[in-house]
Amino acid sequence: MKVYLKKEGIERHKTGCLIVGSFESKEPEGLVKVIDRKLNGMVSKIFEEKDFEGKLNQTRLIYTDRRIPAERVLLVGLGKEKEFTIERLRQASGTSSKALKDLGLKRFSTTLANSTSVPPLETGEKGGYEISKAVTEGAILSLYDFIEYRTEKRQEIKKVEEIIILVEREDKDVNSGLNDGIKISEAVNLARDMINHPANTATPTYLAEQAKGIAKKSGIKCKVLEKADMEKLKMGALLAVASGSDQPPKFIILEYNGGKRGEPPVIFVGKGITFDSGGISLKPSEKMEEMKHDMAGGAAAICAIKAAADLKLSLNIVSLIPATENLPSGKADKPGDVVKSMSGKTIEIISTDAEGRMILADALAYAERYKPKAVIDLATLTGAVIIALGHHATGIMGNDKDLIEVVKKAGGKSGERVWELPLWEEYEEQNKSDIADIKNVGGRPAGTITAAAFLKKFASNYKWVHLDIAGTVWEYNGKPYIPKGAVGVGVRLLVEYLKSQKSEVRS
Ligand code: BES
Ligand code: MN
Ligand code: ZN
Repeated sequence: MKVYLKKEGIERHKTGCLIVGSFESKEPEGLVKVIDRKLNGMVSKIFEEKDFEGKLNQTRLIYTDRRIPAERVLLVGLGKEKEFTIERLRQASGTSSKALKDLGLKRFSTTLANSTSVPPLETGEKGGYEISKAVTEGAILSLYDFIEYRTEKRQEIKKVEEIIILVEREDKDVNSGLNDGIKISEAVNLARDMINHPANTATPTYLAEQAKGIAKKSGIKCKVLEKADMEKLKMGALLAVASGSDQPPKFIILEYNGGKRGEPPVIFVGKGITFDSGGISLKPSEKMEEMKHDMAGGAAAICAIKAAADLKLSLNIVSLIPATENLPSGKADKPGDVVKSMSGKTIEIISTDAEGRMILADALAYAERYKPKAVIDLATLTGAVIIALGHHATGIMGNDKDLIEVVKKAGGKSGERVWELPLWEEYEEQNKSDIADIKNVGGRPAGTITAAAFLKKFASNYKWVHLDIAGTVWEYNGKPYIPKGAVGVGVRLLVEYLKSQKSEVRS
């Protein structure tokens, strides 16, 4: 799909359909008013009859009778002007783009919510950049679908080929908003693909091959550690989880050096369990198929570093993805087993279903060799975070107040919200083992926090935050720019975080 800017007025622009945003109001305003005049008051009538009021994500299709070169106009509601946010614009762009795709249009055009119709944004946000980035992201993310495994009636599958964004004038900010929006959305959609693929395709080996391919294209270094390397490194926790599976585990390392030589990197650690059956502590069979998404943290870590490289961010970044299946077998780890992790700390396995924290423990220990500036891990770690926050926020905890604040802020800006849970010392009590240094389950109370408390023990030598994405990884109903299925959560959040660290482009 192509998305590009075109400088042209609506009185000249030919298209099958033109998307125009409108705030909630009693009558047409801004660009909608201009169109209303050309259509002899037809839009006014629609407002009078309350067939369209500009409510957020409301749409209304109008035929122009060729009074303007566009065959149709799709009005999309932006909600109340006072409540306008970039997230609402992203949604309206998604809603309207998806509506036109469903109509079967292969190409259409959209007007940027322009200076006449959008109030000044919060200070610090570059208006043109933020607006065109949001319109672009909303459109590309909403049009995503996953059709790889459908063999029937493929010709009936709708596909948008081209979106034109109409602009009033050439503008550097608007142009770079478009370009960044494209790169970021493509990275998110790539993560969605990896997660939507079933586990018989998306094995640890597949993830490693994907990472290698991406690295080659985007100018990133990629190294994959094999089981023998893990043994040499004494990654006993990761190996214990991998022991039940016939698929070889992989430890994927991506390094992007956009910053100064020797500058400490930011590290992303992503949980890469390509299928979580629970192991010997077998999960109930109902909904077990959902556990193919247990590598979504890994997908986010791979795709965020890809986006950063494509955006040429001037930072050093490393992504670490421990990848394995978690299956029961005669060779599998068992409840009660004690294993020695790479850090040297011993772990008593209470449940083989608490496997995420095991593989992250070794990845967090591996991260130490980089002397990182900050480490952010992403993991579909606990069902408990769904009980705590539902599906509307990612849980965040960490050992550094400032880092937590910066990531929270990036959450608000990217539209991928995070919410902090307390990581007080008292919770560590629950992870105490009678025979080892720590145990991998701390009981039912505060399951998300005790999981983070477990990780904290392996992240003691650097600034660290943990993101529990178990509640935000999957979309069950479909939202304006998030179709049913894998959300690709974390990519936009991490990129926003990186941009807050440094945003100059390499010369
Ligand atoms: N991958 C699961 C967590 C999960 C649950 C993700 C639901 C997405 C949706 C994780 O490995 C797990 O099984 N966690 C256990 C931990 C328990 C054994 C302490 C859980 O949450 O039940
Ligand atoms: Mn599990
Ligand atoms: Zn899991």
